[in-house]
Amino acid sequence: MNSFEPFQNSDTPRPRIEVEKMHAYKAPLEGRRNLLRLDFNENTIGPSPRVLQALRSIPSHQISIYPEYKGLQATLIGNLKNKYPLLELGLNQIGIFNGVDAAIHAIFHAYGDREEILLTTTPTFGYYEPCANMQGMCIHRLPYEGTEFKFPFEKIKSSLLEIKPKILIICNPNNPTGTRLAAEKIQELAIQSPKTLVVIDELYEAFTGDSMLKKVDFKKTKNLLVLQSLSKTAGLAGLRIGFAIGNQEIVERISKVTGPYDVNSFAVIAALTALGDQQYVDSYVEEVLLARNWIANQLKISQRRHHLAGGNYFLIWPHNEPYIVESSLRKKGILVRNMQGKDLINGSLRVSIGTTRQMQHFWEIFSQIDII
Ligand SMILES: Cc1ncc(COP(=O)(O)O)c(C=O)c1O
Repeated sequence: MNSFEPFQNSDTPRPRIEVEKMHAYKAPLEGRRNLLRLDFNENTIGPSPRVLQALRSIPSHQISIYPEYKGLQATLIGNLKNKYPLLELGLNQIGIFNGVDAAIHAIFHAYGDREEILLTTTPTFGYYEPCANMQGMCIHRLPYEGTEFKFPFEKIKSSLLEIKPKILIICNPNNPTGTRLAAEKIQELAIQSPKTLVVIDELYEAFTGDSMLKKVDFKKTKNLLVLQSLSKTAGLAGLRIGFAIGNQEIVERISKVTGPYDVNSFAVIAALTALGDQQYVDSYVEEVLLARNWIANQLKISQRRHHLAGGNYFLIWPHNEPYIVESSLRKKGILVRNMQGKDLINGSLRVSIGTTRQMQHFWEIFSQIDII
Protein backbone atom coordinates (compact mmCIF):
# COMPACT_ATOMS: atom_id res chain seq x y z
CA MET A 1 0.00 0.00 0.00
CA ASN A 2 1.56 3.34 -1.00
CA SER A 3 -0.77 5.95 0.41
CA PHE A 4 -3.29 6.20 3.23
CA GLU A 5 -6.71 7.66 3.41
CA PRO A 6 -6.65 10.03 6.38
CA PHE A 7 -8.29 8.28 9.31
CA GLN A 8 -11.37 10.48 9.37
CA ASN A 9 -12.33 9.16 5.90
CA SER A 10 -11.78 5.55 6.80
CA ASP A 11 -14.30 3.01 8.05
CA THR A 12 -11.60 0.66 9.36
CA PRO A 13 -10.49 0.63 13.03
CA ARG A 14 -8.31 3.51 14.08
CA PRO A 15 -4.56 2.78 14.34
CA ARG A 16 -2.28 4.64 16.76
CA ILE A 17 -1.61 8.19 15.62
CA GLU A 18 2.14 7.48 15.45
CA VAL A 19 1.48 4.68 12.99
CA GLU A 20 -0.70 6.96 10.86
CA LYS A 21 2.03 9.59 10.72
CA MET A 22 5.05 7.38 10.08
CA HIS A 23 6.58 6.39 6.75
CA ALA A 24 7.23 2.68 6.39
CA TYR A 25 10.78 1.53 5.67
CA LYS A 26 10.72 0.53 2.04
CA ALA A 27 13.53 -1.12 0.19
CA PRO A 28 13.54 -2.22 -3.47
CA LEU A 29 13.83 -5.91 -2.70
CA GLU A 30 11.75 -7.57 -5.43
CA GLY A 31 12.95 -9.26 -8.61
CA ARG A 32 16.62 -9.56 -7.61
CA ARG A 33 17.12 -13.29 -7.95
CA ASN A 34 19.23 -13.75 -11.10
CA LEU A 35 21.21 -10.55 -10.98
CA LEU A 36 24.58 -9.55 -9.52
CA ARG A 37 23.27 -8.06 -6.28
CA LEU A 38 25.54 -5.24 -5.14
CA ASP A 39 22.65 -3.30 -3.62
CA PHE A 40 22.09 -4.65 -0.09
CA ASN A 41 25.60 -5.52 1.12
CA GLU A 42 24.65 -9.17 1.37
CA ASN A 43 27.09 -12.03 1.06
CA THR A 44 27.35 -12.43 -2.74
CA ILE A 45 28.27 -16.13 -2.93
CA GLY A 46 25.81 -17.75 -0.51
CA PRO A 47 26.17 -19.63 2.77
CA SER A 48 28.58 -22.45 3.59
CA PRO A 49 27.74 -25.75 1.83
CA ARG A 50 27.45 -27.20 5.34
CA VAL A 51 24.51 -24.87 6.03
CA LEU A 52 22.73 -26.05 2.88
CA GLN A 53 23.37 -29.65 3.87
CA ALA A 54 22.02 -29.11 7.39
CA LEU A 55 18.89 -27.45 6.03
CA ARG A 56 18.33 -30.23 3.49
CA SER A 57 18.53 -32.89 6.15
CA ILE A 58 16.30 -31.23 8.75
CA PRO A 59 14.42 -34.00 10.61
CA SER A 60 10.64 -33.87 10.67
CA HIS A 61 10.43 -33.28 14.43
CA GLN A 62 12.40 -30.03 14.03
CA ILE A 63 9.53 -28.77 11.93
CA SER A 64 6.67 -30.02 14.09
CA ILE A 65 7.93 -28.73 17.45
CA TYR A 66 8.66 -25.20 18.63
CA PRO A 67 12.26 -24.03 18.31
CA GLU A 68 14.87 -24.13 21.10
CA TYR A 69 17.41 -21.38 21.55
CA LYS A 70 19.82 -22.24 24.37
CA GLY A 71 22.16 -24.27 22.14
CA LEU A 72 22.47 -21.35 19.77
CA GLN A 73 23.14 -18.89 22.58
CA ALA A 74 25.87 -21.18 23.95
CA THR A 75 27.43 -21.68 20.50
CA LEU A 76 27.50 -17.94 19.87
CA ILE A 77 29.16 -17.36 23.24
CA GLY A 78 31.78 -20.01 22.34
CA ASN A 79 32.51 -18.28 19.01
CA LEU A 80 32.72 -14.86 20.60
CA LYS A 81 35.05 -16.15 23.33
CA ASN A 82 37.36 -17.52 20.63
CA LYS A 83 37.53 -14.07 19.06
CA TYR A 84 37.55 -12.04 22.29
CA PRO A 85 39.10 -14.10 25.10
CA LEU A 86 38.44 -11.43 27.74
CA LEU A 87 34.71 -11.34 27.07
CA GLU A 88 32.50 -12.68 29.89
CA LEU A 89 28.97 -13.60 28.77
CA GLY A 90 26.09 -15.70 30.12
CA LEU A 91 23.23 -17.18 28.12
CA ASN A 92 20.85 -14.46 29.30
CA GLN A 93 23.09 -11.83 27.76
CA ILE A 94 22.34 -13.04 24.24
CA GLY A 95 19.03 -12.05 22.63
CA ILE A 96 18.08 -13.92 19.45
CA PHE A 97 15.97 -12.07 16.92
CA ASN A 98 14.51 -12.33 13.45
CA GLY A 99 17.43 -10.47 12.01
CA VAL A 100 18.93 -7.37 13.60
CA ASP A 101 15.95 -5.51 12.15
CA ALA A 102 13.71 -7.26 14.67
CA ALA A 103 16.18 -6.49 17.46
CA ILE A 104 16.07 -2.79 16.51
CA HIS A 105 12.29 -2.87 16.50
CA ALA A 106 12.26 -4.54 19.94
CA ILE A 107 14.71 -1.99 21.38
CA PHE A 108 12.42 0.88 20.45
CA HIS A 109 9.36 -1.00 21.60
CA ALA A 110 10.88 -1.67 25.01
CA TYR A 111 12.71 1.63 25.59
CA GLY A 112 11.37 4.37 23.33
CA ASP A 113 8.56 6.39 24.84
CA ARG A 114 6.47 9.16 23.29
CA GLU A 115 8.43 12.43 23.07
CA GLU A 116 11.67 10.90 24.26
CA ILE A 117 14.68 11.45 22.03
CA LEU A 118 16.56 9.19 19.67
CA LEU A 119 20.03 10.60 19.04
CA THR A 120 21.73 9.31 15.93
CA THR A 121 23.85 10.32 12.97
CA THR A 122 23.02 11.12 9.37
CA PRO A 123 23.19 9.59 6.82
CA THR A 124 22.80 6.18 8.39
CA PHE A 125 20.85 2.94 8.19
CA GLY A 126 17.21 3.69 7.33
CA TYR A 127 15.32 1.47 9.77
CA TYR A 128 16.10 3.35 12.99
CA GLU A 129 13.84 6.27 12.11
CA PRO A 130 10.59 4.39 11.41
CA CYS A 131 11.08 2.48 14.67
CA ALA A 132 11.50 5.75 16.57
CA ASN A 133 8.50 7.27 14.77
CA MET A 134 6.39 4.25 15.63
CA GLN A 135 6.90 5.06 19.31
CA GLY A 136 6.24 8.79 18.86
CA MET A 137 9.86 9.64 19.69
CA CYS A 138 11.66 12.80 18.53
CA ILE A 139 14.71 12.26 16.35
CA HIS A 140 17.88 14.29 16.68
CA ARG A 141 20.33 13.65 13.82
CA LEU A 142 23.93 14.83 13.74
CA PRO A 143 25.64 14.85 10.35
CA TYR A 144 28.95 13.13 9.62
CA GLU A 145 31.67 15.72 9.19
CA GLY A 146 33.61 16.94 6.16
CA THR A 147 34.30 15.21 2.88
CA GLU A 148 35.64 12.17 4.74
CA PHE A 149 32.41 11.80 6.76
CA LYS A 150 34.14 11.80 10.13
CA PHE A 151 32.15 10.75 13.18
CA PRO A 152 30.75 13.87 14.96
CA PHE A 153 32.16 12.72 18.30
CA GLU A 154 32.30 16.03 20.21
CA LYS A 155 28.80 16.97 19.07
CA ILE A 156 27.39 13.61 20.09
CA LYS A 157 29.14 13.91 23.44
CA SER A 158 27.70 17.33 24.18
CA SER A 159 24.24 16.42 22.84
CA LEU A 160 24.13 13.49 25.23
CA LEU A 161 24.49 15.95 28.10
CA GLU A 162 22.22 18.64 26.67
CA ILE A 163 19.26 16.71 25.29
CA LYS A 164 19.52 13.53 27.37
CA PRO A 165 18.35 11.11 24.69
CA LYS A 166 16.74 7.85 25.72
CA ILE A 167 18.49 5.98 22.92
CA LEU A 168 21.72 6.67 21.04
CA ILE A 169 22.28 4.48 18.00
CA ILE A 170 25.66 4.32 16.31
CA CYS A 171 26.08 2.20 13.24
CA ASN A 172 29.74 1.14 13.39
CA PRO A 173 31.07 1.01 10.75
CA ASN A 174 28.33 3.20 9.43
CA ASN A 175 26.16 2.15 6.55
CA PRO A 176 26.51 3.90 4.06
CA THR A 177 29.56 6.10 4.81
CA GLY A 178 31.76 3.35 6.30
CA THR A 179 32.69 5.71 9.16
CA ARG A 180 34.33 3.93 12.08
CA LEU A 181 34.45 4.85 15.75
CA ALA A 182 36.94 3.25 18.15
CA ALA A 183 35.58 1.07 20.96
CA GLU A 184 37.23 3.34 23.57
CA LYS A 185 35.29 6.33 22.26
CA ILE A 186 32.01 4.44 22.38
CA GLN A 187 32.77 3.34 25.91
CA GLU A 188 33.44 6.97 26.84
CA LEU A 189 30.01 8.00 25.53
CA ALA A 190 28.22 5.16 27.30
CA ILE A 191 29.95 5.83 30.64
CA GLN A 192 29.17 9.52 30.43
CA SER A 193 25.43 8.88 29.98
CA PRO A 194 24.30 5.85 31.98
CA LYS A 195 20.60 6.68 31.49
CA THR A 196 20.90 6.54 27.71
CA LEU A 197 20.71 3.17 26.00
CA VAL A 198 23.72 3.16 23.69
CA VAL A 199 23.12 0.76 20.82
CA ILE A 200 26.02 -0.18 18.57
CA ASP A 201 24.88 -1.70 15.30
CA GLU A 202 27.84 -3.86 14.23
CA LEU A 203 26.39 -5.42 11.10
CA TYR A 204 29.61 -4.79 9.19
CA GLU A 205 32.25 -5.04 11.91
CA ALA A 206 33.59 -8.36 10.56
CA PHE A 207 35.03 -6.48 7.57
CA THR A 208 37.07 -4.14 9.76
CA GLY A 209 37.40 -5.92 13.10
CA ASP A 210 35.96 -3.01 15.06
CA SER A 211 33.76 -4.86 17.52
CA MET A 212 33.02 -3.35 20.91
CA LEU A 213 33.10 -6.89 22.27
CA LYS A 214 36.89 -6.69 22.37
CA LYS A 215 36.71 -4.18 25.18
CA VAL A 216 33.36 -4.10 26.84
CA ASP A 217 32.46 -5.24 30.34
CA PHE A 218 28.65 -5.32 30.41
CA LYS A 219 28.65 -5.51 34.20
CA LYS A 220 30.28 -2.09 34.33
CA THR A 221 28.86 -0.52 31.18
CA LYS A 222 25.29 -1.68 31.63
CA ASN A 223 23.71 0.68 29.12
CA LEU A 224 25.60 -0.63 26.09
CA LEU A 225 24.00 -3.04 23.65
CA VAL A 226 25.77 -4.58 20.65
CA LEU A 227 23.95 -5.87 17.57
CA GLN A 228 25.43 -8.49 15.25
CA SER A 229 23.92 -10.57 12.47
CA LEU A 230 24.65 -13.50 10.21
CA SER A 231 23.13 -11.76 7.17
CA LYS A 232 26.14 -10.08 5.64
CA THR A 233 29.02 -12.44 6.33
CA ALA A 234 27.53 -15.93 6.71
CA GLY A 235 25.01 -15.44 3.88
CA LEU A 236 21.87 -16.04 5.95
CA ALA A 237 19.98 -12.83 5.11
CA GLY A 238 16.98 -14.77 3.82
CA LEU A 239 16.64 -16.79 7.01
CA ARG A 240 16.68 -13.74 9.30
CA ILE A 241 18.86 -14.19 12.33
CA GLY A 242 20.40 -11.48 14.46
CA PHE A 243 21.79 -11.10 17.96
CA ALA A 244 21.61 -8.45 20.66
CA ILE A 245 24.45 -8.79 23.16
CA GLY A 246 24.59 -6.84 26.38
CA ASN A 247 23.72 -6.62 30.04
CA GLN A 248 21.21 -9.22 31.18
CA GLU A 249 18.63 -6.61 32.28
CA ILE A 250 18.57 -4.93 28.90
CA VAL A 251 18.54 -8.17 26.90
CA GLU A 252 15.64 -9.44 29.01
CA ARG A 253 13.61 -6.27 28.43
CA ILE A 254 14.04 -6.30 24.67
CA SER A 255 13.39 -10.03 24.45
CA LYS A 256 10.18 -9.53 26.43
CA VAL A 257 8.52 -7.54 23.65
CA THR A 258 8.90 -10.23 20.98
CA GLY A 259 6.91 -13.43 20.58
CA PRO A 260 8.34 -16.48 22.38
CA TYR A 261 9.15 -18.36 19.15
CA ASP A 262 9.66 -15.58 16.63
CA VAL A 263 12.88 -17.07 15.31
CA ASN A 264 12.12 -20.30 13.48
CA SER A 265 13.95 -23.64 13.61
CA PHE A 266 15.37 -23.35 10.09
CA ALA A 267 17.11 -20.14 11.07
CA VAL A 268 18.38 -21.72 14.31
CA ILE A 269 19.82 -24.75 12.51
CA ALA A 270 21.39 -22.62 9.80
CA ALA A 271 22.88 -20.28 12.40
CA LEU A 272 24.29 -23.15 14.48
CA THR A 273 25.89 -24.66 11.40
CA ALA A 274 27.21 -21.32 10.15
CA LEU A 275 28.77 -20.59 13.54
CA GLY A 276 30.34 -24.05 13.44
CA ASP A 277 31.98 -23.22 10.12
CA GLN A 278 33.75 -20.00 11.04
CA GLN A 279 36.44 -20.79 8.50
CA TYR A 280 33.94 -20.33 5.68
CA VAL A 281 32.97 -16.90 6.97
CA ASP A 282 36.61 -15.93 7.53
CA SER A 283 37.59 -16.89 4.00
CA TYR A 284 34.61 -14.98 2.56
CA VAL A 285 35.63 -11.88 4.52
CA GLU A 286 39.21 -12.31 3.29
CA GLU A 287 37.96 -12.52 -0.31
CA VAL A 288 35.92 -9.34 0.14
CA LEU A 289 38.97 -7.53 1.53
CA LEU A 290 41.03 -8.57 -1.50
CA ALA A 291 38.25 -7.35 -3.79
CA ARG A 292 38.15 -4.14 -1.79
CA ASN A 293 41.85 -3.54 -2.53
CA TRP A 294 41.27 -4.20 -6.21
CA ILE A 295 38.36 -1.79 -6.50
CA ALA A 296 40.17 0.80 -4.35
CA ASN A 297 42.92 0.93 -6.99
CA GLN A 298 40.43 1.35 -9.82
CA LEU A 299 38.64 4.11 -7.93
CA LYS A 300 41.92 5.94 -7.34
CA ILE A 301 42.73 6.09 -11.04
CA SER A 302 39.20 6.89 -12.14
CA GLN A 303 38.21 10.54 -12.22
CA ARG A 304 35.13 10.10 -10.10
CA ARG A 305 34.45 11.19 -6.55
CA HIS A 306 34.25 8.13 -4.34
CA HIS A 307 34.35 7.14 -0.69
CA LEU A 308 35.59 3.82 0.61
CA ALA A 309 35.99 3.26 4.35
CA GLY A 310 34.66 0.49 6.66
CA GLY A 311 32.22 -2.24 5.65
CA ASN A 312 31.73 -4.21 2.44
CA TYR A 313 30.54 -1.26 0.36
CA PHE A 314 31.65 2.05 -1.13
CA LEU A 315 30.08 5.20 -2.52
CA ILE A 316 30.68 6.48 -6.02
CA TRP A 317 29.44 9.65 -7.66
CA PRO A 318 29.01 8.81 -11.35
CA HIS A 319 29.61 11.39 -14.09
CA ASN A 320 26.06 10.82 -15.33
CA GLU A 321 22.70 11.02 -13.59
CA PRO A 322 22.79 8.33 -10.87
CA TYR A 323 19.33 6.98 -11.67
CA ILE A 324 20.30 6.56 -15.36
CA VAL A 325 23.51 4.75 -14.41
CA GLU A 326 21.58 2.64 -11.89
CA SER A 327 18.97 1.58 -14.44
CA SER A 328 21.58 0.96 -17.17
CA LEU A 329 23.48 -1.28 -14.76
CA ARG A 330 20.26 -3.12 -13.98
CA LYS A 331 19.69 -3.76 -17.67
CA LYS A 332 23.13 -5.34 -17.73
CA GLY A 333 22.26 -7.54 -14.75
CA ILE A 334 23.90 -5.55 -11.92
CA LEU A 335 22.08 -3.99 -8.98
CA VAL A 336 23.45 -1.08 -6.97
CA ARG A 337 21.70 1.24 -4.49
CA ASN A 338 20.91 4.82 -5.40
CA MET A 339 21.53 7.20 -2.47
CA GLN A 340 19.22 9.85 -3.89
CA GLY A 341 17.78 12.12 -1.22
CA LYS A 342 20.14 10.93 1.53
CA ASP A 343 21.78 13.71 3.55
CA LEU A 344 25.33 14.58 2.38
CA ILE A 345 25.59 11.80 -0.21
CA ASN A 346 22.90 12.71 -2.72
CA GLY A 347 24.19 11.94 -6.23
CA SER A 348 26.08 8.81 -5.21
CA LEU A 349 25.50 5.12 -5.70
CA ARG A 350 26.32 2.63 -2.94
CA VAL A 351 28.00 -0.46 -4.30
CA SER A 352 28.48 -3.62 -2.24
CA ILE A 353 31.82 -5.38 -2.44
CA GLY A 354 31.67 -9.07 -3.34
CA THR A 355 34.46 -11.20 -4.80
CA THR A 356 37.27 -9.80 -6.97
CA ARG A 357 35.71 -11.33 -10.09
CA GLN A 358 32.39 -9.72 -9.29
CA MET A 359 34.05 -6.34 -8.77
CA GLN A 360 35.96 -6.72 -12.04
CA HIS A 361 32.71 -7.45 -13.82
CA PHE A 362 31.00 -4.50 -12.14
CA TRP A 363 33.83 -2.15 -13.05
CA GLU A 364 33.96 -3.25 -16.68
CA ILE A 365 30.23 -2.63 -17.16
CA PHE A 366 30.16 0.54 -15.06
CA SER A 367 33.06 2.03 -17.05
CA GLN A 368 31.23 1.33 -20.33
CA ILE A 369 28.04 2.97 -19.03
CA ASP A 370 29.34 5.99 -17.15
CA ILE A 371 31.25 7.80 -19.89
CA ILE A 372 31.54 11.59 -20.05
C1 LIG B 1 23.39 -1.22 9.51
C2 LIG B 1 22.39 -2.31 9.37
N1 LIG B 1 21.75 -2.75 10.47
C3 LIG B 1 20.85 -3.74 10.40
C4 LIG B 1 20.53 -4.33 9.19
C5 LIG B 1 19.53 -5.44 9.18
O1 LIG B 1 20.21 -6.64 9.36
P1 LIG B 1 19.47 -8.04 9.43
O2 LIG B 1 19.54 -8.65 8.08
O3 LIG B 1 20.23 -8.82 10.46
O4 LIG B 1 18.06 -7.75 9.87
C6 LIG B 1 21.16 -3.90 8.03
C7 LIG B 1 20.82 -4.49 6.73
O5 LIG B 1 21.09 -3.97 5.69
C8 LIG B 1 22.11 -2.85 8.12
O6 LIG B 1 22.76 -2.39 7.04
